[in-house]
This record gives sequence, C-alpha cells and structure tokens, in this order.
Amino acid sequence: MTDAAQETIYLKDYRPFAYIVDDVHLTFKLADTATRVISRISFRPNTDFPGEFFLHGQDVKLISAKIDGVAVSPNVTPDGLTCDVPDAPFVWEAEVEISPSTNTALEGLYMSGGMYCTQCEAEGFRKITFYPDRPDVMSVFTVRVEGDYPVLLSNGNPVASGEGWAEWHDPWPKPAYLFALVAGNLVAHPSSFTTMSGKDVDLNIYVRPGPDEDKCAFGMEALKRSMKWDEDVYGREYDLDIFNIVAVDDFNMGAMENKGLNIFNSSCVLASPETSTDANFERIEAIIAHEYFHNWTGNRITCRDWFQLCLKEGLTVFRDQQYTGDQGSHAVKRIEDAITLRSRQFREDGGPLAHPVRPESFIEINNFYTITVYEKGAELIGMLKRLVGDAEYYKALDLYFTRHDGDAATIEDWLQVFEDSTGRDLTQFKRWYSQAGTPHVTVTDDFKDGTYTINLKQETSPTPGQDSKQAQVIPIAVGLLSQNGDEVSPTRVLEMTEDSQSFTFEGLAAKPVPSILRDFSAPVILQREQSNTERAFLMAHDTDPFNKWDAGQTLAKNVLIQMITQDAAPDGAFLDGIAAILRDDTLDPAFRALAVSLPSEDDMAQSLHGAGTTPDPLAIHHAVEALRVAMAQHVQDILPRIQAGMTVSGPYSPDAKSAGKRSLGNTVLGLLSRLDGGAAAAKQYDEADNMTMQLAGLAALLKLGKGSAESQAFRTQWRDDRLVMDKWFGLTVSMAAPENAARTAMQLTQEPDFDMKNPNRFRAVFGALAGNSAGFHDASGASYTLLGNWLAKLDAINPQTTARMTAAFETWPRYDADRQSKMRGALETLGATAGLSRDTGEMVGRMLG
Ligand code: PHE
Ligand code: ZN
Repeated sequence: MTDAAQETIYLKDYRPFAYIVDDVHLTFKLADTATRVISRISFRPNTDFPGEFFLHGQDVKLISAKIDGVAVSPNVTPDGLTCDVPDAPFVWEAEVEISPSTNTALEGLYMSGGMYCTQCEAEGFRKITFYPDRPDVMSVFTVRVEGDYPVLLSNGNPVASGEGWAEWHDPWPKPAYLFALVAGNLVAHPSSFTTMSGKDVDLNIYVRPGPDEDKCAFGMEALKRSMKWDEDVYGREYDLDIFNIVAVDDFNMGAMENKGLNIFNSSCVLASPETSTDANFERIEAIIAHEYFHNWTGNRITCRDWFQLCLKEGLTVFRDQQYTGDQGSHAVKRIEDAITLRSRQFREDGGPLAHPVRPESFIEINNFYTITVYEKGAELIGMLKRLVGDAEYYKALDLYFTRHDGDAATIEDWLQVFEDSTGRDLTQFKRWYSQAGTPHVTVTDDFKDGTYTINLKQETSPTPGQDSKQAQVIPIAVGLLSQNGDEVSPTRVLEMTEDSQSFTFEGLAAKPVPSILRDFSAPVILQREQSNTERAFLMAHDTDPFNKWDAGQTLAKNVLIQMITQDAAPDGAFLDGIAAILRDDTLDPAFRALAVSLPSEDDMAQSLHGAGTTPDPLAIHHAVEALRVAMAQHVQDILPRIQAGMTVSGPYSPDAKSAGKRSLGNTVLGLLSRLDGGAAAAKQYDEADNMTMQLAGLAALLKLGKGSAESQAFRTQWRDDRLVMDKWFGLTVSMAAPENAARTAMQLTQEPDFDMKNPNRFRAVFGALAGNSAGFHDASGASYTLLGNWLAKLDAINPQTTARMTAAFETWPRYDADRQSKMRGALETLGATAGLSRDTGEMVGRMLG
C-alpha cells in the first residue's frame, strides 16, 4: 500500500536487550545543518539474554566508531547498525552528524524559532545518535553542550559551564526517550521551591526575549502548586537541584516530561490575561501538573516497552485530573472529563481505530498516543480506586513507588501491586486493558413489596481484531431518590462482573427513582428506557452533580433526536428544566454553564448512529440551532439579570470561581445574541479587558454570521502574537457556516502567516475544519478533499502530526453511502501519495480496514 516499511511489532515478542548500558557521555557540537554528536557509552553483555549488538539510528551520518579505543566499521542500515563486539564489558565511541535545521518532523534534535531543542519520545533519540532506543534500557547520562548561545541546557543538575559550553549530569538512570537538550538565546523566569524535606530547588521557565517573558508567572505558580500537591497527596518529593521548563513554538504535542528539563508547546505554558482564555489557563495548569507528575509516574518508574504506555499516561492523567479537581470543583472537572471521554474516546472506541488501552501490536508507536491510552487509561485507575477505596488506593500506590522505583515496569507489575496490597483478585479487571470498545450497560428495574431491583446487562460490540468480548468488572454507583426528590438510598457501588446481573435494595416505602452511574463511575454507555419527565425530574433533583448534569444532557439529546427524526417541537419539560437551572443561584455558575450547554453536533451524530439512525450533519446543525433559539426565547426574561450577576469586577484572575462566572456569563451571552442580533456581544467585545471576554464576544458575533469588523480588528490587534493568531485562525473556521467552511479554511491557508511547518497553526485551521461538524461533512465533500490534500502535503514535512490528524476521517462508517464513499475516497487518495510515511500509512490502512 505504501513504500514505507510496514512492519508490525507485537507485545508478545518482547525480549530484553542483549546489552546493559552502564553510563552514557554525550558531547554536542551544535551547528545548524551539521551538528556533531560524540557518544561514549559503556556496555556490558546481558548474560541472561544474549543476542546481537544492534543500535537504533535514523537519519544520522556515522563519521567514526571505536570499540575500546580501536576503530571499527559497523554494518549501517536505514534503521541502525550492528557490529561485532567483545564478549565482555566495552566502551563504544561514535561520532555522528545530524542536521537540526532541516528537521521538520520535530523529532530528535531540531530548531524552532532560532533555538535548538529535542523531542525524543517515543523513538526520537535514534535520530540523535546510535543507541538502544528502547525504554527498558536505562542509564546515567552526562552531557556536554558546545554552542555559541547564552543558554545551554540538558537533563539533571548543572556540573560546570563556561563561554560557549555547559556540562550536565543526571544521576537518575533513564531511558533515552527522556533525554533533552536546549540551546538558544533565552531568558529565564526564575523561582524556587523548598521540598518537604527542606531541599531548595531552582525553578526556571525559559522563553525567548520579548513579550513571552511576561507570560511565565502563571505557569511558575502552577508548577509550585503541583510540586506541593504531589508531596501532600502522594508523598512524592522532587529529586534534583533544578527543574527547568522551556517553551517552544514548534511542537507536535502538548508537552514533554524529559527528566528535569520539560519542553512545552508554548501554547501549553505561556499565559496572560490579555492573550489567554480561562480555558487556556485551566489547560496550562493541568499540563504543567501532568508533566511534573511524570517525574514519579513515568520517569522514576518508566515503561518496559511502548505497549505499556498507559502505565505512565493513564496514571499521570488520573493524577492531573485529581489535581485540577482539588484546585476548583470536583463535580465540574468530572463533567468536563466525561464530555471529553464520551465525545472523543467513545468515538475512537466505536470506530475503525478502536484499540485496547494496552494495545498488542503497532506499526508506528506515535500513532498510539491516543485518547484511549490517555483518557480511558485514566478511567481504569479511577475505577480501581473506586473498587478498592481511597485508603487502599494510596496504600497500593506507596507500594508501587517503593517496589518499582528505578524499574521499567508493566501493567502486570502495576496490577500485582494492587493484588498484593489489597488482597483482591484483579484477573477479570485486567480485561479492561486488553479489550477495546465501550461496554453498553442496559438497565431495567422493578419494585415489589418494598424491594427495588436493578437488572443490568453488559455488552461490548466487536472491534477491529476482537470479535467477541468477555464480561468486565464495572463499578456502577447508584443512589435512589424518592418521588419528591429526597435521597432514600445514598450512593452505593454495585460491582458488576457478569454479563447479566441483578442488585436489590430493600425496605423501601415506595418505588424510587434511580440515579445510575453516579459520578460517571465507569467508562460505559448506559441504556435505559426513560421518559422525558423522569429525566427532567433528575435534572431538577438529583443529589449527584454529575447525574444532575447528565440527566439534562440525555434529555437534550432525546429532544434533539425527536426534533431531527420526527420534526417535533422543542420539548417544554426540557425548556422548563433549563430555566430552573439558570435561575438557581445556589448552583455553582460553572456547573450551570455546563448544564445549559447542548451536546456537540458530533456527539449528536454519534448518538444517532448508536441508535441505528444515519446522521445528517446539516439536519443536526439546524436542530441544535433551533433548540438554542427556543431556549433563548423561553428564558429571555431572566437572561439580562443572570448576565449582570456574572460580572466579575477587579483585575482579571483565572481562579475557578471567577472563571465559572465568566463561563456562565458567556453561555448566557450566546443565548442573548439569538435575541438581540448581537448587540450585547458587540458591546462585550468592545469593552473586554481580557481574552476570555473578548473572544466570547467575537465568537457570538461570528456564530450569527456577523462580526466581520470585529474580526478584522482582532486580526490587526493581535497580528504579532502567534498564540492569539492561532485562536483567530481556529475561530474563523469553526464559526464558518457549513457551506463556507472549506472555502474559509482554504482562504486562510493563503494568508501570509499561515505556516504549515508550525503544528499549532496547521491544527488551528484544519483541526477547526474537522471540528466544524456540518462544515466538514458538507455534502459537496469539499472539506474531505481539502483536508486530504493538505494532509498529503504535510506528510512530507511532519508525519506525526499528519497521522494524528487523519483521525478526522475515523467516523466514516456512521454516514450515508455518498459521504462514506467521499470520505473513503479522500483516505484512498491520501494513502496513494508517493513516499507516504509509515505513520500516516498505518492510520489510513486501519481506517480503510
Ligand atoms: N509524554 C508526553 C506527555 O504525555 C506526550 C508526548 C508524547 C510528547 C510524544 C511528545 C511526544 O506528557
Ligand atoms: Zn503524559
């Protein structure tokens, strides 16, 4: 299908490396197109697992190699080299040449905005020098960087430095994927932190001189909060004298947890009130926490092989979610996480790219940094915690850290710790790691003689390579309400282990109203015949905030489905429920904002498809808009009062309370604009003194098909700020009317500051196009063709980002025959591109089946 080698790698084939690395010395002589890397590595045979001496290496030119000081001529291939070596410890020395300035794939050593930086996860170190580039080979690194730059950084602690050179030593053995180097004309935003045992740690956030210097303060405070939190909650202390973060503009992902030297996409660390929204602040804080938390869950304990990726990512996402909940509201955070999981992970799990949290094979590991590995991986940790209880969870984690510190571990190791610590048998729970697909849990109930019975049935549809599924352990948190809304049975966790199972609640005076899957206690799809009246009742009375929100969402979906498939009018009970939530000042504004937001158009397509109806994206688009107008009209009397009540005075602060008020205020603004033709939005745009309010004003106007003057003003005002311009590019496409979306995106690619080499800018335009559901699926197929063509172009420059973005097409099986063939056609054309990367080739192959 493609020219690139498509060799599949299997978990079952794991074998330790034949040599042990005792230490690594690297010297970098930096130069744009001809950087020299000199390595001196101590190897010794791994007597338990003898085998070939193979070092990975890709796009590196071997200049010379020696073993124990004697020149050798290794056999070099496109993937690496082999060499005859002594049957005893030996020192390998090599000098290679690489070209950072032409490295547009952004893996290995590359240049971004005039500075040198690295990205080695998962397999980028092999683009720096010849090395056993696998996570189970851990070693102590000493690095010398030579280059004419004021700042020269690597992992660990600084050893010595002088004019044009610096030396670093990292005492903690690490795999090569955690290696990092940065060099450039950078300035530090410094601070410090005193750890729980009284050690002082220097902290720095490095940026280029200029306006970015004023955008570091928030990230620095977030870092300190994270360090403190990991001490307080998990007892984890930082373990070096220094912790550095560097912001780079060109980065494939969000950020990277390199030991002592985190490298961040500038969009995930730089923040200021004028240029960042509340959502940006929240995301930045979460990512800083995430990367910091990796120091223990990822670095001190790493992964044996890349199949175990969820060992570090699922756990670290779970930890960052806990952290964010602790900073603001657990209920709001749980709802936000459930929204992400259902819209993106359920979508992945229900389509051609479905794979287990721990996959068993891959062609290109970069393609498995997925929402399933990360977010479903985090859900598995949450379920374990719910099943064993908080105290047992933290006890097990303590054992995990003591038992596996310094190890490259597996999911088996992780589960063994829980078994040993809690005495629980996790054999069945382990299926969560190997079975793909989202379980559907069907609920029926009955009531007789004071006993209420819940009958549960679980079923998981086949996924690629997995035709039949076995029953999983599903913790289902249930509470019961009386008909007048009192809680008659507090939350109880039902532990489902069979395909079908019943649970009883005794001693009840009357038939209760059940609140099922409270707090979203498992990543499953609940199916239950339920009247709109009962949903409205739970929306009004449920004592569990997640289910209160979810009742409204399910009701909204049902109302929309009735509008789409039966041409029904917007349901009155739903509209009354929305009004009641809006009016209820006792509810957290952030919660109210979520509770009155409608499901996304893509979620509606997913729900319709799940219910056996072929979704029509345009019909969904119109129904969602019609329901929004109906909501606005229904609550018009109260909107101005609520909006006024959400005014936040004083200087901008991104704290959860202020952000929650702005969130509700801006949700209300969206409704108001359907009534006043955009007057309030225009006023808000003009008066805004922070990006949250400015952008919400602009978005509301663009949504109405207005705001071209404001859009131009915004463009002019922020022309020189790359991160704000990304917002403008993105918003322009996401707010475009369905029939204009492709043309709008295409025109934006002709703007002078559209730079396809910058992943943030490319994603701003094309991520927004894929996210504009009705626009992406416009019946003409123009968006499919446009995206396919641009992905083919990008693939030659940056395979990793290209491959990730092909997932826009994963929903093709949902749609009608015409759209299916157009989507598949775009994939086929992309797949036929000459010289297509292995990354993109694998994705296209999996989607076409
Ligand atoms: N390990 C990084 C994180 O989750 C993500 C990442 C993967 C970054 C691969 C770059 C490349 O925190
Ligand atoms: Zn991570």
